[in-house]
Amino acid sequence: MSRPATYSRLQIGLHWAIALLIAGAWFTHEQMEREPGRSEPDGLMIGPMPLHVALGLAVFALLLVRIVHRAMRGVPEPVAGTPPLARRAAEWGHRLLYALMLAAPLAGMARAFGGIEPAGELHEMLATALVLVALAHAAVAVFHQAVLRDGTLSRMTRGRA
Ligand code: HEM
Ligand code: HEM
Repeated sequence: MSRPATYSRLQIGLHWAIALLIAGAWFTHEQMEREPGRSEPDGLMIGPMPLHVALGLAVFALLLVRIVHRAMRGVPEPVAGTPPLARRAAEWGHRLLYALMLAAPLAGMARAFGGIEPAGELHEMLATALVLVALAHAAVAVFHQAVLRDGTLSRMTRGRA
């Protein structure tokens, strides 16, 4: 299958919307911590749901759209001149991010809706891994843009390098 020259506007919009929602879920997780003698989450509720759960479910829903769109349209080749090892690193880094973006909310759902207690701990580990890998990913993107000056970040903002 031939690959598109750029990320689509939908891919760019979903990338940044999901990144913001993940940050939102990260900064609201304390809402879910259960203190002895208190079973209800505190903080902002969105209808029947704690804000943390609403943000996490939004990540999951938008991610499904993103994965289907990606499967149908594909993504551009890495920027010209990327050495083979860096290509593989980017490919596997992106796969890892997709896997963690799927698995973290799924474990959260198993805890919140399935009542499976060990899933809570798994959820915490997966969410922490997701945020750490995403921070490393962002640092690499900024390094490409600012030091290598190969236009990597522009591909995900303006849509071209
Ligand atoms: C990518 C999105 C998400 C991130 C980054 C995230 C992050 C976190 C973090 C860091 C904790 C703290 C764990 C702890 O201190 O015990 C937590 C707890 C929790 N989250 Fe999420 N979460 C996300 C999505 C979701 C979703 C979709 C749900 C449910 C539908 C959910 C439900 C919960 C529950 C129930 C807890 C409490 C777990 C426990 O203490 O047993 N989260 N989340
Ligand atoms: C929670 C935060 C984030 C997550 C989960 C995330 C995830 C991803 C994923 C999975 C891709 C691959 C897209 C694909 O091939 O379908 C990607 C691409 C990209 N991301 Fe992020 N991202 C996050 C935050 C950021 C931030 C903060 C920046 C910039 C500072 C950034 C810059 C980029 C760039 C430039 C690309 C395109 C790379 C290329 O051209 O190959 N991302 N991101």
